[in-house]
Amino acid sequence: AEPLKVALAGLGTVGGGVIRLIDANRALIERRAGRPIEIVAVSARDRGKDRGVDISRFQWVDDMTALGELSGADVVVELIGGSDGPALTLARNTLKSGKAFVTANKAMIAHHGVDLARLADEKDIPLKFEAAVAGGIPVIKGLREGAAANEIMRVYGILNGTCNYILTTMEKDGRDFAEVLAEAQALGYAESDPSFDIDGVDAAHKLSILASLAFGSELDFAGVAATGIRHVIAADIFEAAQLGFRVRLVGVAEANGGGLFQRVHPCLVPISHPLAHVAGSLNAVVAEGNFVGRLFFQGAGAGDGPTASAVVADLIDVARNEYGPAFAMPVASLAQPGRADAGER
Ligand code: NDP
Ligand code: HSE
Repeated sequence: AEPLKVALAGLGTVGGGVIRLIDANRALIERRAGRPIEIVAVSARDRGKDRGVDISRFQWVDDMTALGELSGADVVVELIGGSDGPALTLARNTLKSGKAFVTANKAMIAHHGVDLARLADEKDIPLKFEAAVAGGIPVIKGLREGAAANEIMRVYGILNGTCNYILTTMEKDGRDFAEVLAEAQALGYAESDPSFDIDGVDAAHKLSILASLAFGSELDFAGVAATGIRHVIAADIFEAAQLGFRVRLVGVAEANGGGLFQRVHPCLVPISHPLAHVAGSLNAVVAEGNFVGRLFFQGAGAGDGPTASAVVADLIDVARNEYGPAFAMPVASLAQPGRADAGER
């Protein structure tokens, strides 16, 4: 069968992971996708950088924003980051040219997801972003497809691996915030600007995407009230433990009385709750549906392997031609949420 030709923008933590995963699992991916998935072209900032993977076998494209057209690929994968700038130009160019687009960029989806989905849905081409929320956990698929028959009342969880790594490492060995943040950066968990992680903005991006999927409402990132973990100190974590609680950065979205409540903040989680046991860079998402009850998704929320796993799962869906509208329903039918709770960014 004809291969699915992939052009890859961004060769950092996640981009490198995608190349390694496709190399390692090539045969099984081909079986499951029904045809080979082949990277044909790549682009990043620095062509000469040693990336620990052989990229000389791929076409290098300098003008990344025209990657789809210049490479002749069927699908463009964007792993650069940033809500605007080259990532957004690439997304628009790709979708306008009628090619499929896969991204891990939650900032861009949170800010521009509806417009991008409109471009994709109009042309009936895939716009996929499984890796954008909770890394390797298939939570977008879980909500869009697994829980599709339910009315969802509430969706909440631990949505930032860097913060969870910092909080749970401080809890374990009382180490200093700054030192543990540097470790999370070295492990490839943090955003290029880590204030997005520690100020709760990254979790807010992800929560707004989950809320839109869960409630069939239009994305409303501006409506998320977000507070991060910058001011949590080791003594808070210690005191909480004395009282039977653990400190976690939790995002909560509820559809309530016609309004949508979305908030991200450090929470005291009782030790008896499953979220209290989510440690390290793991993420967890709980969704409460009116027939399915409480769903609990847990897994690696950041890092090269898990995130690449979600990106390549999206590519397999594209290869099989199995995709629906970008959100749970076509953008034309998304409801505008009532703004119930907004805060600073
Ligand atoms: P990295 O910083 O490791 O890699 C970014 C890549 O993009 C690099 O290859 C870089 O090029 C390239 N790049 C950056 N800016 C430009 C530009 N202006 N023009 C061309 N190329 C550019 O990021 P990650 O791999 O960690 O993250 C990528 C995306 O995935 C982000 O949207 C992030 O939010 C998301 N994500 C990351 C996760 C993680 O665990 N790391 C998990 C889930 C999502 P060069 O290498 O040449 O400098
Ligand atoms: N910086 C993000 C995190 C990456 O720490 O969760 C995964 O989206």
